[in-house]
Amino acid sequence: MAGRIPQSFINDLLQRIDIVDLIDSRVKLTKAGKSWKACCPFHQEKTPSFNVNSERGIYKCFGCGAGGTALTFLMEHDRMEFVEAVEALAAIAHVEVPREGGGRVEKPDTGLYELLDKAAKLYREALRDHPEAIDYLKGRGLDGRTAARYGIGFAPPGWDFLKTRLDVDPDRMVAAGLVARNDAGRTYDRFRHRIMFPIRDSRGRVVAFGGRLLSDAGEGPKYLNSPETPVFHKARELYGLYEARHSAQRGSGLDRLIVVEGYMDVVALSRNGIRNAVATLGTAVGTEHFERLYRNVSEVVCCFDGDRAGRQAAWRALEASLPSLRDGRQCKFVFLPEGEDPDSLVGSEGREHLEDLITASKPAGDYLVDSLSEGLDLTSMDARARLCELAKPFVSRIPRGVLRRLLVDRLARIAELDPDAIDPPSADIDQRRLEEPPPPDPGPAPAARTTGLDRRLLRCLLQEPSLFGKLDTSLVRALLGETDDDSLFLRVARWAAKDGDADASVLLARFVHEPFYNELRDLADTERMLDADALEAEFVGGVRHYLGECERRRRLALVDSIRNAPTKENIARYLNASRAARNRTGGADVETSPEAEGLTAK
Ligand code: GTP
Ligand code: MN
Repeated sequence: MAGRIPQSFINDLLQRIDIVDLIDSRVKLTKAGKSWKACCPFHQEKTPSFNVNSERGIYKCFGCGAGGTALTFLMEHDRMEFVEAVEALAAIAHVEVPREGGGRVEKPDTGLYELLDKAAKLYREALRDHPEAIDYLKGRGLDGRTAARYGIGFAPPGWDFLKTRLDVDPDRMVAAGLVARNDAGRTYDRFRHRIMFPIRDSRGRVVAFGGRLLSDAGEGPKYLNSPETPVFHKARELYGLYEARHSAQRGSGLDRLIVVEGYMDVVALSRNGIRNAVATLGTAVGTEHFERLYRNVSEVVCCFDGDRAGRQAAWRALEASLPSLRDGRQCKFVFLPEGEDPDSLVGSEGREHLEDLITASKPAGDYLVDSLSEGLDLTSMDARARLCELAKPFVSRIPRGVLRRLLVDRLARIAELDPDAIDPPSADIDQRRLEEPPPPDPGPAPAARTTGLDRRLLRCLLQEPSLFGKLDTSLVRALLGETDDDSLFLRVARWAAKDGDADASVLLARFVHEPFYNELRDLADTERMLDADALEAEFVGGVRHYLGECERRRRLALVDSIRNAPTKENIARYLNASRAARNRTGGADVETSPEAEGLTAK
């Protein structure tokens, strides 16, 4: 695995990049005083409120609140992924991207890409020389252009096709997943007598292969995939994503991606003019896949086979999609007739039929309600209440926003309940604030308070934003429920919760317009003293401590309020807070009652 990209490198890189040049090549900018202006590329507008500041290397839209650095611009405008965006900037600046742990790690990786590329070329050449493979593909309706578009090849029968043609150390071949080693230590080609589908990463580099038997009577499983290697992580890649993006760049933009189950489905759809299909590599569609998909488009349509396995896959996909369904994103489902898959259907019914099905696909919310209602007699009040109970855990996984509100309102209407009973408002989770972009031009923000504890936590979080994911959900809830807006740590934590697996530079970019930006950047830049486990322990422990402090401050304030005005309301508020605290901490270490503190109502 390649090491992390040092934060200090990214900071230097951002200094070297002329953000005006970068943005101007994509969105025409005009000079306005000290800064540059344009109509915002992130929302529809007629008068320009998108500003770029060359000196500070930042952009900001006063209309929609979008803002950040050259890095976030590439990620959000060009929809690049983090590493890709860093590499693009490094290329502009003519510098190499260093990795922590030195070039030691980076070198072999580039070697693997080369090796995999050579193998793909050999497989493609072999396809030309083997009529039986060409006939198979033709028999399945493919043409030469489609095969070329996906780089489809053929691994001939025999144990050493690649081994004899690639003059490389066998260990490297094993590392690339091209060659396997038996118990006796002998190496042999992993893929034999198979149609070869190269799997490309988002930059188009071959990182793995899927190989299909020529006939169902062949040796081994129908499909064989490369094993996990330093350049291939199955749960992350999507077959066909590179090709879909690539054809979209030339034609109209990519606005929707269709998720299908198989390699052959992707390829067959493409052959029939539907060029935006992708498939997982024989695994269920996971949350990571969805994040990846939504980085490219705002609408994802899952189109699975019309059998039991296909319907199960659709349900799992629905569950995995929920955390990604922020406002503006859509996930929809197509259910094919029993026994059909996209490949067979496009063959028998044609492209338009499938496109009609896709257009008429079912939104995630409908699919959820329909599935949960199955077998329930909704004329009975009990069944309607039951539906709501069933739906609650799913609803709570959708980020707060329009979609979640619509769904809750709908359930509430069905069950004749108050929406708040289904989805309690964010009294203890102030998610609304979390979802909104920072308010347009905060102006001179109130100086944020940074205590020693804040700084310690920030240092952990900015060095390793993924630490946020290590917190228990109860801690996350408690943390996001805090409303102390002066706390710098809390402000950063809210974004960490929202951005998921964001890198520190992306997290930092959320604050480029804040007066405390430099302080944050310096914290992110400090040398890392702790190893991963110690850092996690420090962070999780620190968060507990932080919450304890918030709790204590709140109780003291309530005690004060009782002292000043020992009314029933104030005492009730105090008791509620104590109870909530006991629930949060599982009953431990929260004292008492007003009596115990010598306070009773007069
Ligand atoms: P055809 O059967 O040629 O139409 O291919 P398909 O892509 O439509 O395959 P299918 O619908 O049977 O399976 C969907 C996907 O599941 C495949 O594309 C593979 O990624 C995966 N898969 C299917 N069978 C196997 C197998 O035997 N082993 C592995 N590892 N994956 C498989
Ligand atoms: Mn199929």
